[in-house]
Amino acid sequence: RSNFIIAIDGFSSCGKSTVAKALAKKLNFVFVDSGAMYRAVTLFFLRHSINLRDQESVSDALKQIHIDFIPNTEQTQIFLNDEDVSLEIRRMEISNYVSEVSAIKEVRIAMVAQQQKLGQKRNIVMDGRDIGTTVFPDADLKIFMTANSEVRAERRYAELTAKGEEVTMEEVKANLEHRDRIDSTRAESPLRQADDAIILDNSDLNQEQQLAFVVEEYVKRK
Ligand code: C5P
Repeated sequence: RSNFIIAIDGFSSCGKSTVAKALAKKLNFVFVDSGAMYRAVTLFFLRHSINLRDQESVSDALKQIHIDFIPNTEQTQIFLNDEDVSLEIRRMEISNYVSEVSAIKEVRIAMVAQQQKLGQKRNIVMDGRDIGTTVFPDADLKIFMTANSEVRAERRYAELTAKGEEVTMEEVKANLEHRDRIDSTRAESPLRQADDAIILDNSDLNQEQQLAFVVEEYVKRK
C-alpha cells in the first residue's frame, strides 16, 4: 500500500471530526466522517420505519441506500440517495437512534466495506469508533481521543443550540452516555482503543494544540 491512512477514534463529542478535518486540510488528505454514514443510514431507517429486529427489512433497506461525500470543501457534504442530508443527520432525533442502528451486524458490514473502499488508493483521515480496530487495522497512524464528560457535553450543547435545536443540557448528557454505553458494549466492533493507538485527551487543549499534536505524530511516521 502506498497511501497513508490516519484513523481517529474515540467517544462521542470528543472533537474527533474537528481534528480530523483540520488535519486533512493541512496535509491535503481526504477526510471521511464515518459517523455521518451511520447517521445517514439511521435517517433512512427512520423515514421508512424500518424494524431493526427484522433482518430482512434491514438488508433490503441497506440495498436501497447510496451514500456519497463531497469532501474537502469547508463543510463536507453528505448525500443520501442524491439528497443533501448534511444538516438533518446532526439532529437530536438521529443521535437518539443512531447507536441502535450502528450495532446491527448487517449495517456494519455494509458501511465498513464502503469505508475500506474509500481508503484504497487515497491518503485519508477517517474518524469514528472502530477505524483503527476494524476498518483499517493497518492504519499508519491511530489516534484515540478522549475528553472529560463535562467538557464534551458542553461542546455538544453549544453546537446544537447554535443550530437552533431546542435541547437541554440534561438531554445532551443523557444522549452521550447512552451512545458511549451502546457503542462500547455492542458485539460487533465495539468502540475500544487499538493497542497501537496514541491517546489524545483534549479536555484542556485548544484546536491549534490538538492539531499540532497529531501533525507531530504524523511527521514521525511518514
Ligand atoms: O461520530 P458520530 O458521533 O457522529 O457518530 C454517531 C454514531 O455512529 C456513534 O454514536 C456510533 O453509534 C456510530 N458510529 C459507529 N462506528 C463508527 C462511527 C460512528 O458505530 N465508525
